Parts: sequence; structure tokens; C-alpha cells
Amino acid sequence: MTRTVYLNGDYLPEHEAKVSVFDRGFLMADGVYEVTSVLDGKLIDFQGHCVRLARSLGELEMKNPHTEAEWLEIHRQMVARNGIVDGMIYLQVTRGNPGDRDFAYPGPETEPTVVLFTQSKPGLADNPAAKTGWKVISIPDIRWGRRDIKTVQLLYPSMGKMAAKKAGVDDSWFVEDGVVTEGTSNNTYIVKGNRIITRQLSHDILHGITRAAVLRFAVEAQMEVEERPFTIAEAQAADEAFISSASAFVMPVVEVDGKAVGTGKPGHVVARLREIYLDEMRKAAV
Ligand code: PDD
Repeated sequence: MTRTVYLNGDYLPEHEAKVSVFDRGFLMADGVYEVTSVLDGKLIDFQGHCVRLARSLGELEMKNPHTEAEWLEIHRQMVARNGIVDGMIYLQVTRGNPGDRDFAYPGPETEPTVVLFTQSKPGLADNPAAKTGWKVISIPDIRWGRRDIKTVQLLYPSMGKMAAKKAGVDDSWFVEDGVVTEGTSNNTYIVKGNRIITRQLSHDILHGITRAAVLRFAVEAQMEVEERPFTIAEAQAADEAFISSASAFVMPVVEVDGKAVGTGKPGHVVARLREIYLDEMRKAAV
């Protein structure tokens, strides 16, 4: 089926949507993005993604081309026009096309380029991987120093995913100064008893929208939350481990650098958090 994509105010068949070779997203990775999940035709944590989008744009001195209400309407149109039941909406805003290549930002006369497309993933919340868990390896984190801005410069995370594939596992965890920062496209956690340990927010990691919800639900479920960095050795010695992201939700991690975490099977704390997360977010979906 030909997807309907959104480009600068128009809903177009995907093969008709064209962006200039001078677009700064293409030449400089000068753009930001968001990925919002859809379950049962409704948007999961839409407002969280909208707030983070505004923050990413602000940090890069880019204007936000739409109000939250306008973004919501565009997202809903994308769901409806593409018949999405379960899946994802990808949104990207770049600094646009100034008509030439230049390191300096263009002036306000250059309009941002706005692109949205959908990815249909029937049964997204019933991913069988949640029953078996992910295996991960660790690799050095050599990304830039503003990982809190959700930019489209994703080459190193792609290299991390390829390193994982080559090692026959599901993902890579980035390590800097002896401690884990995050996964290629997710936030990372370990569980010790009733305690969830995850790195504190800073410029070093993306401020996951799923992370914020998961930590809120963990506290509500009487779990303890400790926000601090942890090492690979600590993860290997933990009772359970997991990752969170808008597309994987809460996903158990059962092996780190070849060593089983806990029993080597998904544990009950992560299973419970995943269940609470999906139940609550479905209820609050818009
Ligand atoms: N990735 N850390 C990184 C580096 C990420 O790329 C992501 C999301 C997260 C989790 O953030 P959130 O819970 O808001 O999805 C953490 C998205 C899903 C992606 O690139 O596809």
C-alpha cells in the first residue's frame, strides 16, 4: 500500500513527497525528530513527545512550526489517512532549504521542512521479544555531548545496531567513563530487589518520554527508584535489566556482554512494569 506522508502542509503519496538536496537535514543532519507510538488507533503520550520536540527545537534555535493542537491534528490525520491501528508516527523538522550549503544558520526567511510518515506494526504491544528478552553488548559511547537533543544525526547509533547484529544480539549499550549511558535508541535500567536503577537526566542521554512514565508508574507501584549511573558489571550482577523506548515500550534485557542477567529469563518486575505501562498508556491515549 502506498503510504500517505506529510510534507510542509500537504498530505501526499510517498513517491510524490520530495525534499531539496540543499535541505540542511540532508547536508548537515540539522534537524530533530520524534517517534510516537499508536495503539488501537490512538497516540501514546502525545503531549510528552510534543513538549520534547519544542525543547529540541529551542535548544537549536529553530522555530516550532506548529502549536500542540496543530501537531495533534496532523498526527491524527496521519493515523486516519494511513489506517494505522498499531504502529508509529515518525516526525522530523529540519532547518529547511536555504538554497545553498553554508555552515552558518540561514535567516528566518528559510522555512523549516516538516515531514511525517507512518509505520504500521500490527500487534506492536504483543512483541514476542518481550517474552524472551533482549541480549546486548557494550560498546564505547563516542557520540557528541548534547544527546538530550533528539537530532537526526544517528550514524553512531546505527553503527551500534550493526555491531549488535554482527555479534548476534539485539542491541548495544553505550559505555562512557566506565558507566552505561543508554542503548542505541532506548534508555537503560537495572533492577535490584525492589529498586529500579537508571542514569539521571543530563546532556549525556536522551530524556526518554517512556522513561518518565515508567519511573512514575514504578513509584506508584511502591518500587524504589534510584537515578544514578551503573556499570556493565553491576548490570550483569543485577536481578533484572530492561530498556524503554516509545517503540519497544518496556523490554527485558536478559544478557549483557555474554553474561546472563539474573535467571537469564525476563523477570517479574519488568513484566509487571511493562503491563502497568501499557495499561495506563492505553487509557491515557488520545
Ligand atoms: N528512540 N535514548 C535514545 C538515544 C533514543 O534514540 C530513544 C528513542 C530513547 C527513548 O526515548 P523515548 O522513550 O522518548 O522513545 C532513549 C526512538 C524510539 C527512535 O529513534 O526510534
